[in-house]
Amino acid sequence: MDNNNTIAGWVLAGGIAALGFSILSGKYFHADKSERPETMGFVIEGVESSDDGKEEVPMSMMLAKADVAAGEAVFKKCIACHTINDGGANGIGPNLYNSLGKPHGHVAGFAYSDALTSIEGDWNFDNMNAWLISPRKYAPGTKMTFAGLGKPEDRANVIAYMNAQGSNLPYPEPPAAEEAVATEEAVAEADVAATEVAEETVEADTAAAAE
Ligand code: HEC
Repeated sequence: MDNNNTIAGWVLAGGIAALGFSILSGKYFHADKSERPETMGFVIEGVESSDDGKEEVPMSMMLAKADVAAGEAVFKKCIACHTINDGGANGIGPNLYNSLGKPHGHVAGFAYSDALTSIEGDWNFDNMNAWLISPRKYAPGTKMTFAGLGKPEDRANVIAYMNAQGSNLPYPEPPAAEEAVATEEAVAEADVAATEVAEETVEADTAAAAE
């Protein structure tokens, strides 16, 4: 009986170890296949050029997964003040057709606030994202009394929808640093999994030895 339990213990331990290895190899395989950059020099460059890390997922990454139809639904929050059809009338806010890529305050004849028009640059994807996170923070004193969209997916989807109304700009390339981080995360996860397996194996061994 004692012997049987010991054998059962070892079989269990072996099974856990095998399972662990398959999880582990799956993670490494995945990391290798889709996330590992071609050359390692590339990774270092990417990490060095990464931004200050304020934004967890860059808008370029979000846009790659964005859904225009879902964005149209999000835009319902804007239609109280904005039209977005070609030649649409201004309301409380300006018509937003073809607004991406245009300067701040792009509709001639709309009475924008100085807070908005005094901002340099144009409505690129990152600026539009920052604006939609919080119009008040982006342009303190703006006339757009809209709190902002808290969810990154909502912003990505609505920006994709807006882009599809006239602008049709190509999406920015996701930064390389992100790939490096993703690979690092996958490896770290695999390490944790390996540690867990090792611990479980020790536990199983201990249990088996005790019996
Ligand atoms: C309560 C009314 C209101 C709502 C709701 C609203 N906006 Fe606005 N929006 C404005 C006003 C007013 C301005 C002009 C701001 C200024 O001049 O400071 C504006 C300006 C803008 C601009 C700048 C356009 C340009 O020509 O530079 C964009 C882009 C914009 N809104 C997008 C949105 C989106 C997207 C939503 C929905 C998620 C939204 N707005 C919701 C009132 C609104």
